[in-house]
Amino acid sequence: MGSDVEVDPSDLVILTALREGDGGYVSGSHLAELLSISRAAVGKRINALRENGWEIEALPRLGYQLISEPDSLHPLVVEGLLSTERVGRSYRYLPEVTSTNDELRTLAEQGGAEGSVVVADKQTAGKGRLGRPWRSPAGQNLYLSLLVCPPCAPSEMPPVSLAAAVGIARGIEPFLGEPPTVKWPNDILFDGRKLCGILTEMSADMDRVRYVIVGAGINVNQTRFTGDLAKIATSVRQETGERVSRAAVLGSVLASLEHWLDKLLFGDMAQRDEVLAEWMALAPWVGSSVTVKAFDRELSGIATGIDTTGALLIDGDDGLEHRLLSGDVTLTRHH
Ligand code: BTN
Repeated sequence: MGSDVEVDPSDLVILTALREGDGGYVSGSHLAELLSISRAAVGKRINALRENGWEIEALPRLGYQLISEPDSLHPLVVEGLLSTERVGRSYRYLPEVTSTNDELRTLAEQGGAEGSVVVADKQTAGKGRLGRPWRSPAGQNLYLSLLVCPPCAPSEMPPVSLAAAVGIARGIEPFLGEPPTVKWPNDILFDGRKLCGILTEMSADMDRVRYVIVGAGINVNQTRFTGDLAKIATSVRQETGERVSRAAVLGSVLASLEHWLDKLLFGDMAQRDEVLAEWMALAPWVGSSVTVKAFDRELSGIATGIDTTGALLIDGDDGLEHRLLSGDVTLTRHH
């Protein structure tokens, strides 16, 4: 478990006032009045913010001006970029953690609110699907986990991970300039390389889903992938040549996640169908030959789409229709 970042409530008031100042000066006495503290105490908070990477200029008589905010995932930065109702309103940021999914599970067991988000700068034991590790270096990417509570029985579980893939893909799109693609069940790719992986974990009783943890690793500014990742991974920066603000990507992704998960969990049938249609629209490989490895089985055929549970439908080379609930898809190349 990692250590929490502390937020002084007056810092939020100060930053909000400076942000609303729109690049102009906000006087120290105004801030002191807002907070009912002395001007010297305001000066102390300004210095603490500067130590955490905020660039704030001070001019005698005029006051303070916000020059720039750090590219950090600090709650004070993210708060300014959140446009959601629930998702991320409870936000926990850890500079280092074993796995954000594990951290969020602890929070969920303690009664954490639906929509709670845990973000880390670095993971020391990041987990991928099928028991694989997820390498999680500091300062470059996004590692986030979101708490979702579908109001249903496990047997009626809607395809949360597909909706999450749609939400994340659409949330990253503005930074890429064009839409990424999704690979079943829930990888996000750009030009055939992996940009984001999603690990969904569930806790359920026999008759009720308790909660679902959606964990996403999004490659944002990483430019060197080593070993086996060199050929298969990419990042937003690698695709666009530009460094992007992780906090801005996070704000966009959380807004989009809320939009698409709301449709799936609380929408009518038409809205649920819209999520599946959106997923299909991001999956240009549907209709092509694929090979799927699931446990000790390997199956080839034409991918025809997904059903309402999120299962992958394959028109098998063996002449049978298959419905797959888990596995790894590879596009079959024809030479
Ligand atoms: C995959 O195998 O493609 C899924 C990777 C999921 C990685 C993310 S990073 C944040 C969250 N915490 C984890 O330990 N794993 C997920």
